[in-house]
Amino acid sequence: ALVDARPADLAGLHVVVSAGGTREPVDPVRYLGNRSSGRQGVALARAALARGARVTLVAANLAVPPPGGVDVVTVGTAAQLRDAVRTAAKDADVVVMAAAVADFRPVSPADAKIKKREGAAAPTIELVETVDVLAELARDRVRPGQVVVGFAAETGDAHGSVLEHGRAKALRKGADLLAVNAVGDGLGFGTEDNEVTILDAAGRPVASARGSKDDVAHALWDAVRALV
Ligand code: CTP
Ligand code: CA
Repeated sequence: ALVDARPADLAGLHVVVSAGGTREPVDPVRYLGNRSSGRQGVALARAALARGARVTLVAANLAVPPPGGVDVVTVGTAAQLRDAVRTAAKDADVVVMAAAVADFRPVSPADAKIKKREGAAAPTIELVETVDVLAELARDRVRPGQVVVGFAAETGDAHGSVLEHGRAKALRKGADLLAVNAVGDGLGFGTEDNEVTILDAAGRPVASARGSKDDVAHALWDAVRALV
């Protein structure tokens, strides 16, 4: 259809997109997870494909099917996602971290299912921080000229607005672009619509988009296109 017609302005580029949410095992039947559906990451992969890119999708527990025509690497945990992204990034022109990656994982998942015991205290689960994949990619720069992009879901709170939090995160992460996603008010996780402001490495807004996750995806690729 005409509305889907896009210039093949990403032709010749290999892009890696991580999508979904990681799950960190607590015991053989339980995990610490998050509500990410993977819709935004899948929309990014679909949009890049439509614009002519070769696409590797690192898929963590997607609630939606991946688009046909992309190379899918399926992962479960943050550690698996890190390995898959680093491997794919070696020959990637662009890496977009749209996945919701666990910040903490249980130090030592139980080998057997944790049982209730009459009169016994509730268990305590000791956590350890995971590696920040985005910050690591931005720091190590395994491939010269590679564009590294992050996503950040933020809410305004007593400490600052959505954009203030986003700006601080952009400066902390060192990515070339950070798409700041306003969540709450019927926006974000699990919803159809989305609103983002795209910040550069210095935290300055370079673009914004509100609409479907496909609209947001194309706005993001427009901003990437200006850098590659
Ligand atoms: N991210 C990552 N590895 C992690 C955690 C996050 O690569 N272990 C990436 C996400 O994929 C996203 C970006 O970092 O692209 C921002 O994630 P976010 O959770 O908003 O930022 P954090 O630095 O984890 O800060 P916080 O959750 O405390 O707000
Ligand atoms: Ca986080």
